[in-house]
Amino acid sequence: MKRKIQNIILKKKKIKIVCLTAYSKSIAKILDRYCDIILVGDSMANVLYGHKDTHKINIENIALHALSVRKGVKKSLLVVDLPKGTYNNTRDAFKNAKMIIKKTKCDAVKLESNQKNYEIIEYLVNKKIPVMGHVGYTPQFKKKFQIEGQSKKEAAKLLKEALLIEKAGAFSIVLECLSPNAAKLITNKLQIPTIGIGSSLHCDGQILVTDDMLGLSGFYPKFVKKYSNLNRIIANAVKKYTREVKLKKFPSINNFLNGTRRKR
Ligand code: KIV
Repeated sequence: MKRKIQNIILKKKKIKIVCLTAYSKSIAKILDRYCDIILVGDSMANVLYGHKDTHKINIENIALHALSVRKGVKKSLLVVDLPKGTYNNTRDAFKNAKMIIKKTKCDAVKLESNQKNYEIIEYLVNKKIPVMGHVGYTPQFKKKFQIEGQSKKEAAKLLKEALLIEKAGAFSIVLECLSPNAAKLITNKLQIPTIGIGSSLHCDGQILVTDDMLGLSGFYPKFVKKYSNLNRIIANAVKKYTREVKLKKFPSINNFLNGTRRKR
């Protein structure tokens, strides 16, 4: 198994795994200094494209953003979401996962569980494509948001689903919006690391949508901690720029071109 993936698995129960999402090079470059895993998530559908769900984002959109992110990632494991409808059967899943990996040089793909598609994961893993699973609230398949695994019976069902995904060969699994008890049960029973979002402290790692935790997206459910208020910071900068343009303070003599141009 590839070294970067092996390193993630080895962190289980030893050191928490840090993950965030990125959709562009500039953000990815910052995250790469701190994160173990960077995910090009289909959450870009809501966050960047303003869709009401993640269903209409296509593989070409995801590939373009993943190409940009790739340019900012040197050390972290780069995982790319397979969007809804791109892994309905083994043939499509393999074709699309292979294309994404070839085009973007990402390390792995992630796909959401619909309780049956662990066979797709097994097929991809047998074809040497590393896969991250995703159970619980899976926005590609669930219409209504709810905390998953609240009763013992539901938690046991989620555990069964996660065990099948592990057996299929996934190297890690996202647990989205699970009750603390279900997250603890699954994390304790699985050999592969669990990455939680809204699923308590019990998981082996945590992931958030970066735009949410930076206070940029306007989406702040209870499980999101706002580590910054970029909305306010950006608004202040734009306000200052507007004022300076209007008062003819920008550009100043310092901003006049003199024949040299800084390379990006
Ligand atoms: O699309 C995404 O950003 C995700 C994370 C929320 C896990 O799947």
